[in-house]
Amino acid sequence: MPRIAVVGSANMDLVVRCAALPRPGETVVGRDFSTNPGGKGANQAVAAGRLARVGTQVLFVGCIGEDTHGKALIESLTGAGVDVTHVKTTNLVPTGTALITVNERGENTIVVDHGANALLDPDHVRRALKEIDPEYTLVQLEIPEVTVYACERFGKLILDPAPARLLEPEFLEHVEVITPNESETLALTGIVPLDEFAQQRAARALLEKGIKQVVLKLGAEGCYWTDGRTELHIPAPRVEAVDTTAAGDAFAGALAVFLAEGLDTEGALTNAVKCASYSVTHPGAQGSMPTRFQANVK
Ligand code: RIB
Repeated sequence: MPRIAVVGSANMDLVVRCAALPRPGETVVGRDFSTNPGGKGANQAVAAGRLARVGTQVLFVGCIGEDTHGKALIESLTGAGVDVTHVKTTNLVPTGTALITVNERGENTIVVDHGANALLDPDHVRRALKEIDPEYTLVQLEIPEVTVYACERFGKLILDPAPARLLEPEFLEHVEVITPNESETLALTGIVPLDEFAQQRAARALLEKGIKQVVLKLGAEGCYWTDGRTELHIPAPRVEAVDTTAAGDAFAGALAVFLAEGLDTEGALTNAVKCASYSVTHPGAQGSMPTRFQANVK
């Protein structure tokens, strides 16, 4: 049975929609306030859980507060079929929170208060991953850096470098797949992946760090993949975006599932792009993650 471990953050998202995102010092009037389960780690686990076939196990490793937000996150994860045995709880700080504004074009701003995510420690993660013995481990960067490093050597590592941060070269050598979006690509390589030449240069800079496969997420343009020998451009279906929050999480969770289930790279990336495209047509983070049927993937 393939096992996918997702190590990362769980946040409660406090979301307001507005016509235009506020500039510094500006007050704007918003509408449709909602409180939704989020956090990059939990989002990716829910995405994977909804897509996984019977027989593929998705396990979330994270830390939440002993509060109502923490309870709601556990409900959302288990509702998607995710195993939460390795979720740690704390009464020292509240569950992580994200303040999110979304404009009419579906673009957002996000401010995260890590809360309990900051207490996800490397020992807990190492113990959990040893027990899980995953084929794939998915990790992002909303948890302490030392905890991210604790994931190396446990299954094939998929690193979603969000929010972007420079990491130790020794760790990057253990990464199987890295999945930066455009702004993360710029932060990690100094290159804006606007055209094919820039995408090749940015990917090469990441491959030179010892990462085995690079996927550049290009929003409405789909994604670019290379392992240094061959390359692929996967276009995205044209959709009307209402909320781009967690589209990258839908992509990462889907990629892990389809790779773990043995699809080839092109098939897994095509399905991941379809899942991310579906997610932008629905509001919220975990609520926008599709099933196979909804994303029209096999
Ligand atoms: O990737 C989207 C997520 O980023 C949101 O759900 C928010 O919680 C932040 O972690």
